[in-house]
Amino acid sequence: MREKPRANETIESVTPARRLEGKVAVVTGASRGIGLAIARTLAESGVQVVMVARGKQALEKAARRVGRGAIAAPADVSQPHDVESIFRRVARHPGRLDILINNAGVFTFKPFRATTLEDWRKNLDINLTALFLTTRSALPLLMKSGAPHIINILSTSSRHAFPKCSAYTAAKFGALGFTQVIHRELRPEGIRVTAILPGVTETRMLSEFDFAVNRNGILQPQDVADAVTSSLTAPSRATYEEILLMPSKGFV
Ligand SMILES: NC(=O)c1ccc[n+]([C@@H]2O[C@H](COP(=O)([O-])OP(=O)(O)OC[C@H]3O[C@@H](n4cnc5c(N)ncnc54)[C@H](OP(=O)(O)O)[C@@H]3O)[C@@H](O)[C@H]2O)c1
Repeated sequence: MREKPRANETIESVTPARRLEGKVAVVTGASRGIGLAIARTLAESGVQVVMVARGKQALEKAARRVGRGAIAAPADVSQPHDVESIFRRVARHPGRLDILINNAGVFTFKPFRATTLEDWRKNLDINLTALFLTTRSALPLLMKSGAPHIINILSTSSRHAFPKCSAYTAAKFGALGFTQVIHRELRPEGIRVTAILPGVTETRMLSEFDFAVNRNGILQPQDVADAVTSSLTAPSRATYEEILLMPSKGFV
């Protein structure tokens, strides 16, 4: 059984493996893929995880799989009302928040000429506006944490333009700009902010491509979860501001 952290311990005085024990995290997009791997990994490190996604059944099943007290909080992160309700619920129980992981996302792979306004809005709403909404609602709770941390799961598409991804790329570039601004604004208040930019990762999202992705050597959701753990367990003096995580063999 794990030893509990003592009351007077600081993050530096406990081993990295134990630095997350007793913390509370909200992970969006946690019903599958990268978000599920993050939720499972945090729960295994002793974090109470609040898992968010729209599909209630899949989310509840995922929370049961994660176990260790994981809470399913069904919500659409692009809807202000839903987002406020997540953090009202967290304020009631577990009653604190240390970590916000903005991971929920959608991907549209279409030439610009075929991209509809609906595609555009969906990508902007879920991949960008949701970060504004969750961050705004989470801040009052995060401010009460001893070691608050916001991690945004962005994409290599936050830095590089690939054809047939105009809506996704616009949103992810914007999300990186947003992340950099809140990092600078929130740093004086002791809130660490990290952007993780994964390359192609083996999840359901790959079915959006119009070609068969060669899965040999691409990233696994656990690779992204491990980058999250590294960011969270770094000593408080150190912030991973941006992690570009690519398949070692490259892609396309
Ligand atoms: N897979 C890749 O190659 C890759 C590469 C770089 C970056 N990323 C990024 O990694 C993140 C996770 O992607 P993934 O590959 O794990 O995708 P995924 O397997 O399709 O999972 C997406 C998750 O987001 C949830 N979600 C989508 N829209 C939502 C909304 N409006 N409100 C709440 N939850 C919502 C989904 O559940 P519901 O549909 O039930 O809501 C699901 O849990 C995304 O931000 C993506 O852009 C992925």
